[in-house]
Amino acid sequence: MARKPLLILALANLLIGLADADWNILNQKWKNARGDSLKNYCESWRINVELHNIREFEVVPQECVYYIKKYMTSSQYKADSEKAIEEVTLYLSSCCSLDGDGKDAWIFDVDDTLISTIPYFKKHGFGGEKLNSTSLEAWMKETKAPALDHTLKLFHQIKDNGVKIFLISSRSETLRSPTVDNLIKVGYHGWAGLILRGLDDEYMQVQEYKSQVRKRLVDQGYRIWGIIGDQWSSLKGLPDAKRTFKLPNSIYYLS
Ligand SMILES: *[C@@H]1O[C@H](CO)[C@@H](O)[C@H](O)[C@H]1NC(C)=O
Repeated sequence: MARKPLLILALANLLIGLADADWNILNQKWKNARGDSLKNYCESWRINVELHNIREFEVVPQECVYYIKKYMTSSQYKADSEKAIEEVTLYLSSCCSLDGDGKDAWIFDVDDTLISTIPYFKKHGFGGEKLNSTSLEAWMKETKAPALDHTLKLFHQIKDNGVKIFLISSRSETLRSPTVDNLIKVGYHGWAGLILRGLDDEYMQVQEYKSQVRKRLVDQGYRIWGIIGDQWSSLKGLPDAKRTFKLPNSIYYLS
């Protein structure tokens, strides 16, 4: 009977030993800037951000900035986003008995859902620097954010089905005019509402602010069939939507 725990202990020691060794090899590779194991580490970091196991991160781990940059500008990021949008289309094909009473609603985030902030982050450390809202907002005012093409197509499909589209963004109300300009310039139009953060909302966490906006919509009789966003804070909280869809984003985290 006593031999079993001993054996387990011995095995555990062996495993710790192996993990140590692997870790050291990993470290050496990092110093040599060899790709493979660093890629494993950074891909784990990225996937755990998407799974919402890693939360509240302020910056991308320094050793992964290059990897995250590669991912966010890769065909894989595009394919992952397109897959998410495909799932939305599939859901829409059978989910909803649209009443045609003007109360069917769909919610989109703005940044990194409809339009991309990647051009900004390319010039500002790609998640490796703490978010500087002054310079990010200055960039937003330039209205140069490109459309995310996969979402653009879906946006119009949903709208053409008679669903009211609400854009709920954590952008400040002071950015309304450049936000509208930017959206229209890249092909978005015909939304039913663009909700931005007023002064009072600035004191709230994003999740609380967005939940309150949804509550107002539900109180007005809207049925929220779905939300698409790149942040968990856009998808969680009550009232919820029938379905939520998360787009990849491992550059920043808004809680
Ligand atoms: C944030 O950006 C502004 C405008 O570019 C700059 O003046 C300021 O120094 C930056 N703040 C930090 C903490 O880097």
